[in-house]
Amino acid sequence: MWPLAMATRIVIQLLLCAALCCLPSPHAHGLNNGLGLTPPMGWNSWNFFGCKISEQLIQEMADALVTSGLADIGYTYVNIDDCWASHRDNEGNLVADKKSFPSGIKFLADKIHAKGLKIGIYSDAGILTCQRRPGSLYHELQDAQIFASWDIDYLKYDNCFNLGIQPQNRYPSMAVALNKTNRPIYFSICEWGQNDPAKWAGEIGNSWRTTDDIKDKWQSIVTIADINNQWAAYAGPGAWNDPDMLEVGNGGMTFNEYRAHFSIWCLMKAPLLIGCDVRNMTSETFEILSNVEAIAVNQDILGVQGSKVSKQGSGECLEVWAGPLSGSRVAVALWNRCSYGNNITASWGDVGIVSDSPMIVRDLWEHRFLSGSFIGNLTMYVESHDCKLLIFIPEEQKLYYGEQ
Ligand SMILES: *[C@@H]1O[C@H](CO)[C@@H](O)[C@H](O)[C@H]1NC(C)=O
Ligand SMILES: *[C@@H]1O[C@H](CO)[C@@H](O)[C@H](O)[C@H]1NC(C)=O
Ligand SMILES: *[C@@H]1O[C@H](CO)[C@@H](O)[C@H](O)[C@H]1NC(C)=O
Ligand SMILES: *[C@@H]1O[C@H](CO)[C@@H](O)[C@H](O)[C@H]1NC(C)=O
Repeated sequence: MWPLAMATRIVIQLLLCAALCCLPSPHAHGLNNGLGLTPPMGWNSWNFFGCKISEQLIQEMADALVTSGLADIGYTYVNIDDCWASHRDNEGNLVADKKSFPSGIKFLADKIHAKGLKIGIYSDAGILTCQRRPGSLYHELQDAQIFASWDIDYLKYDNCFNLGIQPQNRYPSMAVALNKTNRPIYFSICEWGQNDPAKWAGEIGNSWRTTDDIKDKWQSIVTIADINNQWAAYAGPGAWNDPDMLEVGNGGMTFNEYRAHFSIWCLMKAPLLIGCDVRNMTSETFEILSNVEAIAVNQDILGVQGSKVSKQGSGECLEVWAGPLSGSRVAVALWNRCSYGNNITASWGDVGIVSDSPMIVRDLWEHRFLSGSFIGNLTMYVESHDCKLLIFIPEEQKLYYGEQ
C-alpha cells in the first residue's frame, strides 16, 4: 500500500539485525514476566467509547485492527476498559455485565485470540472501579485467577475508591497475584502519577501512568509530555512510563497536532494504545497511526525514553527532543509549540552526537532522506503545533539505506 514505507521498514529491520550483533541483550527489570520488552501496542475502549461497550463492539474493533492492517504493524492488544463487570457471584467471582457481554469474557478472549490478537481487561486497586463496578482490592488472588482462567493477556489497574491506602500497599499484591497464575499478563499500573510511581512501580509493573487522564486537546498533550519527561531515566525494557493512551483520530485536534502527539509518544517510548473508533478512521488518522517509521522509533530494541534537550525562541516554545536508538542512531523531534511557524535547530551537543560526526537524516513523516549530510547542527522550519520526527544516522551507515 505504501511501497516506500514498506521498503524503509525492511531496510530498518536489516539495520536492526546488524545493530543487534554488537548490543548487549536487553534485560527487563522488576516484574520479570517477560512482557513489554518494547512498549505495548494496541487499542483501548475508553477514550472514544467510555462505558458504551459490548462484546460486539470489541469484536468489531478487533476485526477493524486486522482488516485495516494495523494489527500487522504491531497493534495487537485489544483492551476492554471500565464497565465490563457488573457484580460478584455467590463465590465472589467477577461477573461480566449480562446485557453488554452476554457470552462472557472467556468467549470474547477466544474470539480475539482466534484473530491472532491479544486481549486486555480492566480492574481497580480499590473497592470499586471509577465507574463503580466491583474493584479488586482485597480480591487480588481470586481476580487474577479468573483473569488467567479467561486467558487474559493484559490488565489495566486503576486507582479509584482506594480507601486512602498508599499505592505501594495496594499495587504489589496484584503483581504477586498475577505472577501466581503462571500466565504472563502485562501489568499496566494506572495510579495517575500521584506517588511518583516511576520510583517504585518498575519493580512490580510493566508500565505505570505518570499523569492524570489525557484529554483530546493540545494543552493536555503539552502538559502530559512535560510531566512524563521528568521520569525518562526510569524507563526501560519491561518497565515504561505511561503518559496515557492516544487521542489521535478523536476529533479535538488538527492533523499537525495529532502528528506531534504521535511523534512525541513514539519518542518517549509510550505505550501506543489507539483510542479512536478504528472502524471509522479518516485517511489522515490512518496515516498517522500507521507510520511504521515512527513506530520503529517507539519499538527500538534499545528502549531508551527520549527527552526534551533544548528550548528555543523568545517564548521558549520551540523544542528539541531526542534519544538514542540502536545502531548508533539518534531519534530527534523538532516540536513547535508556538502559535507561529519557525525554524528549530538541533545541535549535535544537545542531541548527544559527537560534534564532528557527519550524519544523514531521515524524515519520518516525509518518508525520505534529507539531501546531503550534516555536521554540527540541523535547522528545519516547523509549522505551528507541528513536529518533525527525524532519525540521525552516522554517514558511514549510508550503505544500508541504499538509494532511498
Ligand atoms: C513470576 O516471578 C518469577 C520470579 O521473578 C519469574 O521468574 C516468573 O517468570 C514470573 N512468572 C510470571 C508468569 O510472571
Ligand atoms: C464516522 O466518522 C464521521 C466523522 O469522521 C462521523 O460523521 C460519522 O458519524 C462516523 N460514523 C460512525 C458510524 O460512527
Ligand atoms: C528559517 O531559516 C531559513 C534559512 O536560513 C530562512 O530563510 C528563514 O527566514 C527562516 N525563517 C524564520 C521564520 O526565521
Ligand atoms: C550551525 O553550524 C554552523 C557550521 O558549523 C555554524 O556556523 C552555525 O553557527 C551553527 N548554527 C547554530 C544555530 O548552532
